[in-house]
Amino acid sequence: MIPVLATERLLLREWRDSDIEVEAAASADPEVMRYLDVGARTREQVAEAHRRRMAVGQRVPGLGFWVGFASKEFVGWWILQPPDGPGQPQTPGEADLGYRLLRRWWRQGLASEAGRELLRYGFEELRLGRIFAQTLAVNQPSRAVMTSLGMSFVRSFPTDMPTRIAGAEQGEVEYALTAAEWRARQAASSAPTAAPRRRPEPPRGPG
Ligand SMILES: CC(C)(COP(=O)(O)OP(=O)(O)OC[C@H]1O[C@@H](n2cnc3c(N)ncnc32)[C@H](O)[C@@H]1OP(=O)(O)O)[C@@H](O)C(=O)NCCC(=O)NCCS
Repeated sequence: MIPVLATERLLLREWRDSDIEVEAAASADPEVMRYLDVGARTREQVAEAHRRRMAVGQRVPGLGFWVGFASKEFVGWWILQPPDGPGQPQTPGEADLGYRLLRRWWRQGLASEAGRELLRYGFEELRLGRIFAQTLAVNQPSRAVMTSLGMSFVRSFPTDMPTRIAGAEQGEVEYALTAAEWRARQAASSAPTAAPRRRPEPPRGPG
């Protein structure tokens, strides 16, 4: 079981099998899948990918797969899962962040809004030591979300994604944030801003 999480605009709850239809709809959009696959996927491929992600997510208590809603409308999904991919050492205390939104919700700050809540949950409630995210180097929107979340570029590495994806030959990138960095950012953002400087006294006239 993973908890329900809430942000200003989103409600994130655990994935249910009945959500497969909305994931199938998202995965059938070639723009959504542009950097993820060689095109739209069949319902059976979506179901298989879903089963695999659920199995990975459930290996560590508290990690898993959330579906996000804005005013009861499906927006997309977010995942915080134990390291599992090729070249990801299975280090305890680490988690891999991912996200995918229906196209009509893009560019409204929603991927990063829920991402921030998952960072808070991961560091504060699960006491994770490090959260990372990986994407194709050419996936600028995904990299922008990582940067917006305060994650820093760590490394680039060759990908095993299909080379037919335009730009896949540039490989993948990893961004990450440690618990110490996250705490420092929290402290900096909640620190009182410097008191406004007093205007200089006007020069006194004679007398
Ligand atoms: C990547 C994705 C989740 C971004 O979602 P989003 O809700 O549009 O992102 P946000 O609105 O939270 O934007 C976060 C930052 O990224 C920037 N950004 C988002 N889309 C961008 C784009 N297409 N080009 C450049 N910057 C972009 C935003 O300007 C914002 O930057 P800021 O914080 O400096 O203002 C969405 O495009 C998507 O679902 N893509 C398909 C699936 C995918 O590739 N997932 C990632 C797999 S690793």
